[in-house]
Amino acid sequence: MSKQLLREITRRRTFGIISHPDAGKTTLTEKLLLFGGAINMAGAVKSRKVERHATSDWMAIEQERGISVTTSVMKFTYKDYEVNLLDTPGHQDFSEDTYRVLTAVDSAIMVIDSAKGVENQTEKLMEVCRMRNTPIITFINKLDREGLTPLDIMGEIEEKLQIECTPLSWPIGMGKTFKGVYNIHHKTLHLFTPGQATLNEQGFLIEDLSDPKVDELLGEQADELRDDIELLEGAANPFEYDHYLNASQTPVFFGSAINNFGVQEMLDCFVEMAPPPGPRQTVTREVSPAEEAFSGFVFKIQANMNPAHRDRIAFFRICSGKFTRGMKVRHHRLGKDITLANATIFMAQERENVQEAWPGDIIGLHNHGTIKIGDTFTPKEELKFTGIPNFAPEHFRRVLLKNPLKMKQLQKGLVQLAEEGAIQVFRPLIGSDYIMGAVGVLQFEVTMARLKNEYGVDAIYENVDYQAARWVRCEDKKAFAEFERKNQASLARDSEGFLTYLAQSEWMLNYFMEKWPTITFDKTRENI
Ligand code: G4P
Repeated sequence: MSKQLLREITRRRTFGIISHPDAGKTTLTEKLLLFGGAINMAGAVKSRKVERHATSDWMAIEQERGISVTTSVMKFTYKDYEVNLLDTPGHQDFSEDTYRVLTAVDSAIMVIDSAKGVENQTEKLMEVCRMRNTPIITFINKLDREGLTPLDIMGEIEEKLQIECTPLSWPIGMGKTFKGVYNIHHKTLHLFTPGQATLNEQGFLIEDLSDPKVDELLGEQADELRDDIELLEGAANPFEYDHYLNASQTPVFFGSAINNFGVQEMLDCFVEMAPPPGPRQTVTREVSPAEEAFSGFVFKIQANMNPAHRDRIAFFRICSGKFTRGMKVRHHRLGKDITLANATIFMAQERENVQEAWPGDIIGLHNHGTIKIGDTFTPKEELKFTGIPNFAPEHFRRVLLKNPLKMKQLQKGLVQLAEEGAIQVFRPLIGSDYIMGAVGVLQFEVTMARLKNEYGVDAIYENVDYQAARWVRCEDKKAFAEFERKNQASLARDSEGFLTYLAQSEWMLNYFMEKWPTITFDKTRENI
């Protein structure tokens, strides 16, 4: 194993941020990029979004909605670490991609609004993290405003997200009385000055909280902090590194992203503690990142970044070995050798042509529809990485063609869009409908615009009564056949032919699951 490969693996951190809209993900991202020197002024991430709208006119929806349909990968260097931050789209552009991005990270940062506590999108994203036991660091944001007490927030996280909390920092007051945070781990006190960006602040080292200096710095709130810390020493869960790594415990930090307070402390801890790229499972064996042979998989496909050419960019996560520009790999699904000549690496502000890249890095591969989600490339050995599933859609529409002569184009378009992971397509066992399923409703508009622009299909949507979908399977073939025969009206096949139950309500879904105990109802399905 080459020394350089090992060194590059050890210094890489590939992660995503999970949060509910408005918790402060964009603000935090911006501060992280500032620390990483990837941007040099606040506001750059937001303005980049605006710029992107101005230059990408392939789809008017982006502009109309004033949001971004695209997601990106931001790479920056912090201390000696190479950090890859994979964006997890969260507002209206919340989609299956948001879930799937999490299959390509090694850890996550969870941002929680201190006034709102655990919200619904965070719960959903946490469910995805749990599938691979992704280690999570928590950042409780907006301490400059009145919110829930730290104990209440941690209690809510433990209860709703089923993960033990261990505070590594502790806030002193909140809102108007917010004085700063005490770093339990390093025993340092960081004082808060509203509106002041505190880059590189070191804090005051406090060996002993009974030091009168604490009273000088905090006034009346000194005793409050002493009481809190004493209480925590007796009652809080001690930090256990292994528990963080196996995702049964989350270290918690408090701060205010907009004031850049508590962010650097968390980042310092993140780069030290978060795991570097680890081994990944394939159908046949586990692949270690330190293997010399290059390997990786596609977890996301983004279409028409360049409207002049109808090309697509496949986001490829490197799992082992070194990538070098122009290298030949085997596209195992197609059984063809391809040259990775035009790979792009994603920087915070611009895309650059990559010469070399390492495990944990994400490269963008240009193609014309020849790459599917989950495709694995290696120089020789036939491998197929697992853990890159389809996620059960939560919204449904029926597609009605305006011009029935365009049926062929519709079918072709839907097959390709399903392969890209843009949308899921179901054919009910009875009738000839096309039912589309998506994790976020914007995907319907995106799909319709693309069907029209790229495939010349003129269609409309009709609402359907479905609320949930589950892939169904059963070891017992006879029982499965009976289930299928008796429930034809509620069953459909997805684009790969897998049987799916479409439920009209959560209640119906639960009823079905109880009624058919031998059938397994899956929320995810893998193409393997
Ligand atoms: P998101 O990406 O998770 O959706 O959140 P974003 O960072 O856009 O933040 C949502 C709102 O919360 C923004 O206000 C942002 O300024 C504010 N915010 C972020 N961090 C903090 C914090 O530490 N304290 C306080 N008080 N507010 C914070 P906005 O009014 O919606 O947008 P903007 O006009 O400020 O951009």
